[in-house]
Amino acid sequence: MDMQRIPAREGNYNLRNYDETRATFKWEDAHKYFSWDKTGKVNIAYEAIDRHAENPSTKDKVALLYSAPGREESLTFGEISAESNKFANVLRKYGVHKGDRIFLFMPRSPEFYISLFGILKTGAIAGPLFEAFMEQAVRDRLEDSEAKMLITTPDLLERVPQEELPTLEKIILVGNQEIESSKYIDFYNEMEAASSSFEIEWMDLEDGMLIHYTSGSTGKPKGVYHVHYAMIQHYVTGEWVLDLKEDDVYWCTADPGWVTGTSYGVFAPWLHGVTNVIRGGRFTPEDWYDTLEKHSVSVWYTAPTALRMLVSAGEDLVKTYDFSSLRHLLSVGEPLNPEVITWGLKAFDLRIHDTWWMTETGAQLIVNLPSEEVRPGSMGKPIPGIEATIVDNEGNEIPPNQMGNLAIRAGWPSMMRGVWNNPSKFESYFINGWYVSGDSAYRDEDGYFWFQGRLDDVINTSGERVGPFEVESKLIEHPAVAEAGVIGKPDPQRGEIIKAFITLNPGFVESSELLEDIRQFVKTELAAHAAPREIEVKDSIPKTRSGKIMRRLLKSWELGLPTGDMSTLEV
Ligand code: WTA
Repeated sequence: MDMQRIPAREGNYNLRNYDETRATFKWEDAHKYFSWDKTGKVNIAYEAIDRHAENPSTKDKVALLYSAPGREESLTFGEISAESNKFANVLRKYGVHKGDRIFLFMPRSPEFYISLFGILKTGAIAGPLFEAFMEQAVRDRLEDSEAKMLITTPDLLERVPQEELPTLEKIILVGNQEIESSKYIDFYNEMEAASSSFEIEWMDLEDGMLIHYTSGSTGKPKGVYHVHYAMIQHYVTGEWVLDLKEDDVYWCTADPGWVTGTSYGVFAPWLHGVTNVIRGGRFTPEDWYDTLEKHSVSVWYTAPTALRMLVSAGEDLVKTYDFSSLRHLLSVGEPLNPEVITWGLKAFDLRIHDTWWMTETGAQLIVNLPSEEVRPGSMGKPIPGIEATIVDNEGNEIPPNQMGNLAIRAGWPSMMRGVWNNPSKFESYFINGWYVSGDSAYRDEDGYFWFQGRLDDVINTSGERVGPFEVESKLIEHPAVAEAGVIGKPDPQRGEIIKAFITLNPGFVESSELLEDIRQFVKTELAAHAAPREIEVKDSIPKTRSGKIMRRLLKSWELGLPTGDMSTLEV
């Protein structure tokens, strides 16, 4: 399998000449696609929605094809434009202005997308939160960003510790409920009364657009801050990598609480004016296949864990569906196993194109392009306009075929412009003009990049990024837990699962009920996806002399690897 290469099929791909484009492309060349090239002022909501609503030939085109158990709806560009204008008016009425942080905490729904564009139209910075977050996770993010308003549903409200969030002035509730507090605003009532015309806030290219909180190996989640100019990269990668064409029906399976769900679940498809499928509800193989077939999806962007689950569901199931509309498949978020690519060729008669990027990078950087050869197991090559390399710990480039830290020449359009409230964290990403990713990788002589793993302790479970520190902090809040060390344990389906090593407080005895109780505690206070699937009780947790938990050592124990120099260890 290793060196098997899959050539491109014939096709009218948007980017056909990689080498030539790479040699000549400059980001400025893409400015002409946007109105701001002439006016100097920008708003991503205009370019993604209003521009298509103003154009008589696209105004009534379906932008959003939404389905969830019990709800099916479609909205045109004209409708999203008008509805998000209304919502922007609601926000203005309650004092929202440019630069305010307005957060969204709700399941995928038409209201989510309307609210998101309403926020952006006022010039405020949007902060989407994953709907599975529990109280601690919600508090950390709203506190750090000093969010002024939150849009949520009555069901999720109990996870918002309002008394502890002094800057949170109002909560907009999407759903029927009795309004009992002057703090609450009823979404539907307000929308009914609001005007559908709104004077969009024109921004500078470098003005704030979005904050996505994400996890590192230490400390609380970081607010990764993006600006409106990022759109140029969403657009260009939508063209080259997603290979979007006017008549495509596109489906990105990611939740907008994570960066893939905004950059590629919202912006890239709508900047291109294509019909965007949003599927709510839980994953099942039948449901996903059904969605692909029912909407005649042509371009599909998903993740390795989901693909592996489809592989496990078996080939017979695939054969019961008609996937003739599918033209282009892509994957992101975790290493894509060569076996899955092989399966994709059989199941769909298509290649699956791996793409690499991060919350911090804002958009795809290293990709498999449709017109290029796929080398299964490789993330592909940098897109034109991006310089990628492998560096050592000092930030010096190292030759091909040697492992090191994957680095990108700083300054690409969609790069984060800061870490909210944390300038030193932001600076720590850069060395010698390189953005250093923390992913270990090597590059072969032909410029293909091969992912090896994380260099820090960040866990990637089912493509979701989890910080061990957050889980450890929550674990030790449980009365039975004295100390905790958390690692990612390799798992054939989920990439990694979360494994916790704990010591118990005096008076507590290990039992399966106790361990389940501890698991539930993390699940209900932090988030379901952050709860350890495995918990192992130890007599002590290895720490350095300075008291840092040695997760590396825990991992070596788990994997049965040699443990190396332990001279700083204190067990
Ligand atoms: C990992 C998701 C292997 C990587 C867009 C990175 C990948 C982290 C790939 C970012 C890939 C992402 N192959 N690993 N194609 N894509 N990763 O911020 O470790 O949620 O640093 O962004 O996911 O995760 P994040």
